[in-house]
Amino acid sequence: MQIGFSLSLHFVQILIIFSQTSQSKRIVAEVNGVLGYIHDVDEIITKVQSDIDQLDKDSGEFDNATMRENLLKVLQHFKIISIQVEQIEKQYTNITIQQFLYTEIFDNYNDEEDLGNLRHEINNINDNFKEMLTIENSNNSNTFIISFAELIDRRRNGKCITPNDFYLELFDLWFRSKKILTKMRHEYQIHVYSFCYSPQSPQQIVFSIYKHIGLTELKAYILIEYSLLLRRIDGQRDLMEETNKVRAKYKNMIENSLNLLEETMRKADRDMWRCDPHELHYNVTYDEMTRLLQGFIVNEVDLNSDGSCSESCSDYQNTTTKGCFKQKFCSQQPKCEGRIHDCQLVDSYLSVCQSQESSNRRYEYIEYEQDDEVFTLGEYEKCFRGVNNVASWNRWIFTKCSYCICLCDEPGPKSDRYFSLLYTLSDIKANKVVTGVRFVKKNRIFHLQIQQGQLLPRGAINESTVEWVPIEDDEVTAANVHTMSYQERGIDLDDVLNKDEKTSVVTGLRIRVLNGRLNLAVLFSPLDFERGKLFPHRSFRYYKPPHNESRQKLNLDNLDVPTRLEYMDMIPPTSKNNQYLEFVNSGIEQDAAQTTIPFIDIQDVVSNPPVPLAGIGIYYRSLPGYGGFVAPKIITYDISQHVRMPTW
Ligand SMILES: *[C@@H]1O[C@H](CO)[C@@H](O)[C@H](O)[C@H]1NC(C)=O
Ligand SMILES: *[C@@H]1O[C@H](CO)[C@@H](O)[C@H](O)[C@H]1NC(C)=O
Ligand SMILES: *[C@@H]1O[C@H](CO)[C@@H](O)[C@H](O)[C@H]1NC(C)=O
Ligand SMILES: *[C@@H]1O[C@H](CO)[C@@H](O)[C@H](O)[C@H]1NC(C)=O
Ligand SMILES: *[C@@H]1O[C@H](CO)[C@@H](O)[C@H](O)[C@H]1NC(C)=O
Ligand SMILES: *[C@@H]1O[C@H](CO)[C@@H](O)[C@H](O)[C@H]1NC(C)=O
Ligand SMILES: *[C@@H]1O[C@H](CO)[C@@H](O)[C@H](O)[C@H]1NC(C)=O
Repeated sequence: MQIGFSLSLHFVQILIIFSQTSQSKRIVAEVNGVLGYIHDVDEIITKVQSDIDQLDKDSGEFDNATMRENLLKVLQHFKIISIQVEQIEKQYTNITIQQFLYTEIFDNYNDEEDLGNLRHEINNINDNFKEMLTIENSNNSNTFIISFAELIDRRRNGKCITPNDFYLELFDLWFRSKKILTKMRHEYQIHVYSFCYSPQSPQQIVFSIYKHIGLTELKAYILIEYSLLLRRIDGQRDLMEETNKVRAKYKNMIENSLNLLEETMRKADRDMWRCDPHELHYNVTYDEMTRLLQGFIVNEVDLNSDGSCSESCSDYQNTTTKGCFKQKFCSQQPKCEGRIHDCQLVDSYLSVCQSQESSNRRYEYIEYEQDDEVFTLGEYEKCFRGVNNVASWNRWIFTKCSYCICLCDEPGPKSDRYFSLLYTLSDIKANKVVTGVRFVKKNRIFHLQIQQGQLLPRGAINESTVEWVPIEDDEVTAANVHTMSYQERGIDLDDVLNKDEKTSVVTGLRIRVLNGRLNLAVLFSPLDFERGKLFPHRSFRYYKPPHNESRQKLNLDNLDVPTRLEYMDMIPPTSKNNQYLEFVNSGIEQDAAQTTIPFIDIQDVVSNPPVPLAGIGIYYRSLPGYGGFVAPKIITYDISQHVRMPTW
């Protein structure tokens, strides 16, 4: 165990110089990176112990004449230490995130009674810590000061009078509710569904819990150290033996919890993805492709160049409109200028409600009657444009010219079906890495946009540099834009991680077309974690998921429009690695096949605080019966491997 107390005993003689300038402290902490917390706490412990040892020596034998002065001096030193503890707290914890931990995780925990105690005791330690700062007030009597110190430490028959588990554990006495912490620190699948509302990946949350509890333990420990010293100055028995016991115990606690931290973080999930927002908003939380494949009503007679009606609807799987026989319904609706696929017969008599011209839909709904029952394709609403009655007709005795419902694949101004295939890179020369992603639709083209930030030593990101990298202003006709079509409308669902994920981070990505499907490729750059430097020369290690012919296809046939889903708390990812899906029309029954599904989630996928990434993924989430959302996720860089690598 390298972290801990190794330094303190050898350097007892050295007078500790307390740095009081918060500015320089902040820079030091930033340089220490994500795990700087462990380092900074370690540094404080060393300082506290040297300080206590020095004060103990300076105050000499018990002397009534110098007692007052010594007591006040101890309290002043406590105050200086406390300022540094507060700085660590400010630097490494975030109240909003702590509140999230309480509401989403602690509240879902089973052992409510123990948790209640634990919370109470955490608050109690914080209160004691603040109180100790105010008794420094020189008007307080010696007795007042000492009685406060006694509160922290006083025991009767080996039991603490202030039965706070944080003190009890340090005094090596029996405690109860803190055991839950050990349990909780072990927990890496804490109510996993809550995580999608969290601004951190589970691994980051584990670390946040660790810091929150660790800071409380630190405060309890510091309170005990200074209280024991106050009591010694007051002429109580020599408490150095007691102090040494507490130190050994605390060291032991820190070692155990670091072990646990490393183990739990290693096992913890590092995926970060977004839940469905409480309300879905077009152009804010989601966007959609439009009119890729859309239900279209057409008579058989118009589907072949002979104007014949000798086949059936299902014989037309790949054709185009060939004419408009006798200006029937075909002349009352916009033509399908593209290819026509997958025709099927619905019924001989249809009532068709056409949509407004501005709509991306062709029809609001289609109705037909069968055995005295009315069936509606799509959702019945008031029809603003008037209903067209569309009837199949008989040509000869045995030939019927039927209306079919087909899928129209018609690129055009109403059909947003474009994906940018451009590389997008973080500014590697300026030592910037990718910290987040989101889908954006711009000029009708979807892009996977990246967020970037400057990499600092030990996994930190310079927060003031974090920004979204602007996307190109391309037109749909540009060469690097992929146009989806009936043949090419798939997207691979993968988590793309580098084989060398321990030594490299994401610095770019691109979407490309592989086997006719969109496929995410990610660019990685090797990094020196300690120094926080990318190696530009060895950058651009381009990684694609292994080519696998046996990718499994998700079936998205006959699903309803995702926005019709009643609000659900959250929808988990439905897809697994190495699957794919094809964008497709919504169900004929549910929506008259008018909408292209799934939708595209356009929420930001970023963590707070921003961190380097080990990978990026694209996944699909939905509930049965509904088309869902295609969304990106990020996989945070694994810092567990560095927990045991202190360089200080
Ligand atoms: C100790 O000093 C305090 C004032 O500093 C004085 O009031 C008290 O009488 C002294 N006690 C003894 C035993 O000398
Ligand atoms: C804490 O986190 C919240 C929510 O993620 C964020 O808005 C806020 O800026 C953070 N505060 C600090 C001081 O970083
Ligand atoms: C201490 O007491 C004096 C007289 O009562 C008062 O003027 C002074 O403000 C007090 N000091 C503090 C720090 O409260
Ligand atoms: C979508 O939102 C952006 C800004 O958030 C706005 O500029 C744009 O006009 C919106 N587009 C549509 C189609 O509403
Ligand atoms: C449909 O026909 C066109 C033209 O012959 C052809 O290019 C295309 O590959 C066909 N599509 C399918 C899915 O067979
Ligand atoms: C963080 O970025 C700001 C703005 O670019 C810069 O002034 C500052 O020096 C950076 N901090 C570090 C530690 O590099
Ligand atoms: C390919 O995909 C199949 C089905 O998803 C899977 O069982 C198999 O392990 C994959 N092979 C490789 C080399 O990834």
